[in-house]
Amino acid sequence: MTLMAILDRVADATAFDKVIEPARRAVLGALRPQAVKDFLHGTWLGHPLHPVLVHVPVGAWVSAGLLDLIPPLRPAATVLIGAGVAGAVPASLTGAADWSAADVGVRRLGALHAAANTAALGLYVGSLVARSRGRGALGRGLAYAGLSVASGSAAIGGHMSYALSTAVSHSATAARALTGEWIDLGPLDDLPEGRPVLRTGKGRSVAVPLAAVRRGARVDVFVAACAHLSGPLDEGTVEDVRGAQCLVCPRHGSAFDLDTGQPRRGPSANAQEKLEVRMEAGRVMARPPSRNR
Ligand code: FES
Repeated sequence: MTLMAILDRVADATAFDKVIEPARRAVLGALRPQAVKDFLHGTWLGHPLHPVLVHVPVGAWVSAGLLDLIPPLRPAATVLIGAGVAGAVPASLTGAADWSAADVGVRRLGALHAAANTAALGLYVGSLVARSRGRGALGRGLAYAGLSVASGSAAIGGHMSYALSTAVSHSATAARALTGEWIDLGPLDDLPEGRPVLRTGKGRSVAVPLAAVRRGARVDVFVAACAHLSGPLDEGTVEDVRGAQCLVCPRHGSAFDLDTGQPRRGPSANAQEKLEVRMEAGRVMARPPSRNR
């Protein structure tokens, strides 16, 4: 069995759900208010913050592993290990925020990822203590053990991102299925004011659900699958969020600016795919932006 098949088995295992769910609720409770969660998700950045921050501990610890091979440079390795330990704290907070809003399979793997990262952090803290007491060989041994555990944990994190699609934009994936042609969404007069309705875009292999929102003579059209985890935005609401008119997802409450598609409230850190719109003889026409054609 391959490593990835083993990780898929972990994602399907229900054995630890009784522990994981209370832990998730505890994280949700600790990361209040919503603005704190949004900061950690990276909603303000328009990009998940966790992958931006993890390069600090990973980079520092890998570099320390190389410097430890060269005796005169071992004091520098100790500095890098300390930097990695400090950098692991904000990285773990952003990971915890994303984990608390993830699907169940990702939460199971994420619990393993967090346990492994905590073990790696403990080994590196032990390494620092050993080095401070003049026990350099033990310190190096603990650091290499920490690097091994952190590397295995990185493989788990990669599987969560690339195989289970956490933190990616689900709306960008859906948008890729659209053809580049203009889509006739019907008469403007058929659209209700100020609430999303479902329309369908022609896809290369399957039809793509779209969410259209009318505000007077203006219509904003989005891919209906929410960027966070594919929630149905056509069943969402239009609300004022942080000073902007937003389309709000009914699943976890992500709010996307109607004008730009940018997230105004998480958990989504990614923008919602928005289509170009023009009117033609009283009918609403839409097509994906050029990057998706
Ligand atoms: S699916 Fe989670 S906020 Fe939309």
